[in-house]
Amino acid sequence: MLTGLRGVGKTVLLNEMHRMAEDFDWLTVRLEARREETGARAVRRNLARDLVVAARKYTRTRLSARMRAALGTISAFNAKIGATSIELGVELNHGRGDSGDVEVDLVELVQDVAAALGEQGRAFAVFIDEMQDLDGETLGALIAAQHAANQRDLPFYIVGAGLPNLPRVLTETRSYAERLFDYRSIGQLDRTESARALAEPAERLGATYAPAALDVLLDAAGGYPYFLQEYGQAAWSVAADRSISEDDARAAVEYGTEQLDGGFFRSRWSRATRSERRMLAAMAADGEGPSATGPVAERMQLKPKSLGPYRAALIQKGLVYAPEHGQVAFTVPGMAAFVHRHREDSEAFDETD
Ligand SMILES: Nc1ncnc2c1ncn2[C@@H]1O[C@H](COP(=O)(O)OP(=O)(O)O)[C@@H](O)[C@H]1O
Ligand SMILES: [Mg+2]
Repeated sequence: MLTGLRGVGKTVLLNEMHRMAEDFDWLTVRLEARREETGARAVRRNLARDLVVAARKYTRTRLSARMRAALGTISAFNAKIGATSIELGVELNHGRGDSGDVEVDLVELVQDVAAALGEQGRAFAVFIDEMQDLDGETLGALIAAQHAANQRDLPFYIVGAGLPNLPRVLTETRSYAERLFDYRSIGQLDRTESARALAEPAERLGATYAPAALDVLLDAAGGYPYFLQEYGQAAWSVAADRSISEDDARAAVEYGTEQLDGGFFRSRWSRATRSERRMLAAMAADGEGPSATGPVAERMQLKPKSLGPYRAALIQKGLVYAPEHGQVAFTVPGMAAFVHRHREDSEAFDETD
């Protein structure tokens, strides 16, 4: 489980792991969780459809009895959900993975598929991005399937990425999830790694950064991969030739910050209504946070209870999350500083309400 704020590189890592699993010829499915009402059905349909599509690569080979049964279970699972009419050319394994109870079905599906792949030295893996947004029922079923597979020593792996509250979401869904996964928190790159992220790709194109230029850019990016990307691109744009000077770097920080403010931050800000923005401003008083909800409500001259709808809306919009009960925090690094930078002209942002 890869956890961290937005822009730290979780999706990049998840995709890289997915690619590695594919290289090993594992059966893989990649899902992206959504918060919408229709999310639960959509995610299961995607799972069923992508499983059928991924499993087609095995239909070209001579099937072991176990593999034939596993493909039959995938087909039965898909038939029950009605996700796709693509067929695997085997008989449906009626009674496996098609009860309609998502937990029973996923446990059976994982068991049959992982057992068949294990026989061949392969594995079954499900990659899930934005996993904190997965609906509780599907999440519970997946955790239960992982647990059951572990108990039988079957090669099934859920690889997830999400906000820092993901471990809490998992544990609240199934308490044993705490011991089930390997949790890695993804944060800033250190200074050496940050310098490499800028310098190495530039070197490949015959460009170099003056040491003082790197210092300026690294200070501005604070080790956040997305900011390194933005400032690096800005440096590339403002530099007159392939040697990037300290002067270029200073111009790049100004330009890059404007780009971030006008895009990364502003797009989030403009998703919030006027009152939700008041909550963002109240949170920004705590710097990068997290903020306790009590004082935030107080700053907005609201009763703690009345904060609920704003909090819920901002979570729904992906701008804030709850690191712990009674807390809220920004999902992107640097949001508090953005709100401070724009406090004076924050009225100018209010045109959308
Ligand atoms: N290891 C890394 N080194 C340098 N830049 C990175 C690295 N990982 C990610 N990035 C940059 O950060 C951006 C955001 O990464 P992403 O995986 O989308 O973050 P997250 O999923 O955590 O929000 C990427 O588009 C890429 O430009
Ligand atoms: Mg991501």
